[in-house]
Amino acid sequence: MSNYHIKHLEEYYQVYRKSIRNPEVFWEEIAEEHFLWRKRWDKVLSWDFSKPEVKWFEGAQLNITENCIDRHLATRGDKTAIIFEPNDPKEASQHITYGQLYEKVNQFANVLKSKGVRKGDRVCIYLPMIPELAISVLACARIGAIHSVVFAGFSSTALATRINDCDCKMVITSDGSYRGSKTIDLKGIVDEALNDCPGVESVLVAKRINSDINMKDGRDYWLQPLLDAASKELKAEVMNAEDPLFILYTSGSTGKPKGMVHSTAGYMVYTAYTFKNVFQYREEDVYWCTADIGWITGHSYIVYGPLANGATTVMFEGVPSYPDFSRFWQIVEKHKVNQFYTAPTAIRALAKEGVGHIEKSDLSSLKVLGTVGEPINEEAWHWYDDNIGKKKSPIVDTWWQTETGGIMISPIPFATPTKPTYATLPFPGIQPALMDENGNEINGNSVEGRLCVKFPWPSMARTIWGNHQRYKDTYFSAFENKYFTGDGALRDEVGYYRITGRVDDVIIVSGHNLGTAPIEDAINEHPAVAESAIVGFPHDIKGNALYGYVILRETGESRKHENLRKEINQIITEQVGPIAKLDKIQFVPGLPKTRSGKIMRRILRKIASKDTSNLGDTSTLLNPEVVQEIMDKAL
Ligand code: WTA
Repeated sequence: MSNYHIKHLEEYYQVYRKSIRNPEVFWEEIAEEHFLWRKRWDKVLSWDFSKPEVKWFEGAQLNITENCIDRHLATRGDKTAIIFEPNDPKEASQHITYGQLYEKVNQFANVLKSKGVRKGDRVCIYLPMIPELAISVLACARIGAIHSVVFAGFSSTALATRINDCDCKMVITSDGSYRGSKTIDLKGIVDEALNDCPGVESVLVAKRINSDINMKDGRDYWLQPLLDAASKELKAEVMNAEDPLFILYTSGSTGKPKGMVHSTAGYMVYTAYTFKNVFQYREEDVYWCTADIGWITGHSYIVYGPLANGATTVMFEGVPSYPDFSRFWQIVEKHKVNQFYTAPTAIRALAKEGVGHIEKSDLSSLKVLGTVGEPINEEAWHWYDDNIGKKKSPIVDTWWQTETGGIMISPIPFATPTKPTYATLPFPGIQPALMDENGNEINGNSVEGRLCVKFPWPSMARTIWGNHQRYKDTYFSAFENKYFTGDGALRDEVGYYRITGRVDDVIIVSGHNLGTAPIEDAINEHPAVAESAIVGFPHDIKGNALYGYVILRETGESRKHENLRKEINQIITEQVGPIAKLDKIQFVPGLPKTRSGKIMRRILRKIASKDTSNLGDTSTLLNPEVVQEIMDKAL
């Protein structure tokens, strides 16, 4: 029996039991058989959640790019590694073979070195979904520089915060990006951000939209001439198993974003293993994940997981609606995609457009469908199953997080019977626990609680960059000796898990995690605003939309309110990004607060969701009268 490739349910249970009984032996066998090491580990695992400290494959040495590229050259040199599908369907797609990828990554890595980037340095990548994004990520890994990819939809302020938080010395960007029929001035956003980033020494600029941009002498360099002059060979840096591979920021419920730090060996082993099994990838398959590499899904399941398996992975630059809503299905047909992985928000948006857009495309290549990022509602699940999978392709509802690095709970297609809205069973090596409010583990089935994980897994984030205490407080303090996910979940009568949603102040809008604090901070910067609170409310397509309650310094005439709403959303766009704009803004005389001054968001959430029949206990409120006033004028 192979631990690496699970094909049947019985096999899953056997492998799972083994992975729990003897995790070290289990992971050691997988690491040994399927990866290329420069030096073997001394110890498979050491851990202490009270510190917290977790180390996998300690003493081992490797380079992840040798696993993702070099070792495939002998057998897959001419196989396509990356298919690039541009924003405009009239522009030709590109097929980059493993052989070409090897050369391109080396050239890029040589350019990084020539600009003074060394092992351990942080490099910020702010690029659209063009091949340079995947190549620059791998080039950093090749020389041991730590990449910090920032999603190119973030604003200049958000970008500057992320650059400064981990002291990036270089930024890699492009002259601009395409998004459907629009172009975005990425370089302009970078220039603005860099006014506040004294540590950045150089900026590499890829040409994408041929726009006339400002290049700062001695700081900004066009990428292509440097690549053309660079050698196609470079010896990969030898990295220790626990050396950081990358930093990726995720929203917290309070304060600034958290730079989750992922390590090299454990991350590689786990993303490769989960990719193989969750998508049942076979040698000739074409796999497409629609996420952006700016998110963890793109890191783990566009770049590292697929390439570590020698897979063909599609990178799509555009949006589902351009030139029209048949675009995804046209791409599936064009590249004969076998595994398709997307988010519930995209499924809902596509479902709304009707099936006419699907009928013109041949979807018969599809074998497995995936979803990630937020709970999928039953209607969207069935729409996906009926219209895209034609009831033949199992849906893998994959639950995981930026912090977990890889997929944690998911069906294994053709093995685990699926159940709509259920992520189903934990992956081998993953030991979930549901906890009650008193900190006790809830045993048995048909129960609901807070979702924790009680044993380390190889791809867990090791810390928050520059703030280990916050890492401990956020994830390891709520429940003793357990990693707390921030999600609620239920376990049904057969042991299947269903994720019910966040139990903290993170709101997931169109699959993007948004913390309330940075958005409220942005709103409060408006000179007319005294205080604000935002909550999520259900939205047909986005899953959740944002509802803002705003107290003005002076209660002005209501005809000014429309302008204020626009201005508030403008500030949010500048400070956080357009994804954080509020759908509704209600001007209120006060906010419901407890005697200790905490905003009672539970009540605000109920009002925003129009669910006010039972507001729960309001006896601890300092100002109960304000609740009725807010309700009377709710939007
Ligand atoms: C939510 C994305 C329900 C969850 C990989 C989690 C999900 C957060 C699912 C992490 C799913 C992700 N079902 N909820 N299949 N997948 N989530 O860090 O609340 O962007 O904590 O990682 O998304 O979002 P992140």
